[in-house]
Amino acid sequence: MAGKSVVLSVDGISKRYRDLVFSNFTWEFPNSGMFVIKGPNGSGKSTLLRVLACMEPPDSGEVRLMGEVVRDYRAKVYHKYARVISFSFQEPALLPISVERNLQVPTLVDEGRLEEVIDALGLRKLLKSKATKISGGEKKRTDLARALSRKTPALLADEPLSFLDPEYVEVVTSLLREEAKQRLVIATTTGSDQLTDAADTVIDIMDYKRARQ
Ligand SMILES: Nc1ncnc2c1ncn2[C@@H]1O[C@H](COP(=O)(O)OP(=O)(O)OP(=O)(O)O)[C@@H](O)[C@H]1O
Ligand SMILES: [Mg+2]
Repeated sequence: MAGKSVVLSVDGISKRYRDLVFSNFTWEFPNSGMFVIKGPNGSGKSTLLRVLACMEPPDSGEVRLMGEVVRDYRAKVYHKYARVISFSFQEPALLPISVERNLQVPTLVDEGRLEEVIDALGLRKLLKSKATKISGGEKKRTDLARALSRKTPALLADEPLSFLDPEYVEVVTSLLREEAKQRLVIATTTGSDQLTDAADTVIDIMDYKRARQ
């Protein structure tokens, strides 16, 4: 049985929209380490990550966060789950204010860590720029900085390497590896790449495509 110390565990979760997205996915994630979910476009990686992040319910099965079964998916209670989970979206959703102010929006930010990631991700010179007027890769780095600087037991990042040039692919991969020494990191990617190479465990979503008999 999952104890209090297990950050995230899921038991037999399945999800279908029009078609089956994934079926009977069971995993007890430890409190540190890097897990990478891989699969082609449309295979359900973002859906699985949202379910793991307690942003939407599975159709069946159970999600446990800090040992408690998650039953309430109303937006107004999400702040409770956000104390445990930091999330970086596949498509960064930044506010039309400066990069600096976007970085001040999240809760539980470790200010020292934020300063470090601002430098590591090359955001220092962009701080005064409006977030809607920076490049795709710069937006992605800003969104990643927000998630990386939050002090939560788990960090979930949906395609953290997308939009990034080779230099920042290296930087983000090593930042995630560093994080994974202290906390649970779950990321997604479309194929075999630096992220799958850096992972402690690679989860192939295509293994969860068969409806339960
Ligand atoms: N809210 C939704 N309502 C209905 N169908 C959805 C919804 N979200 C995703 N889908 C469908 O579920 C499937 C999986 O989508 P998902 O975004 O999880 O895939 P993905 O593996 O993240 O793809 P990509 O590599 O393009 O990011 C797709 O067929 C998609 O059209
Ligand atoms: Mg996706």
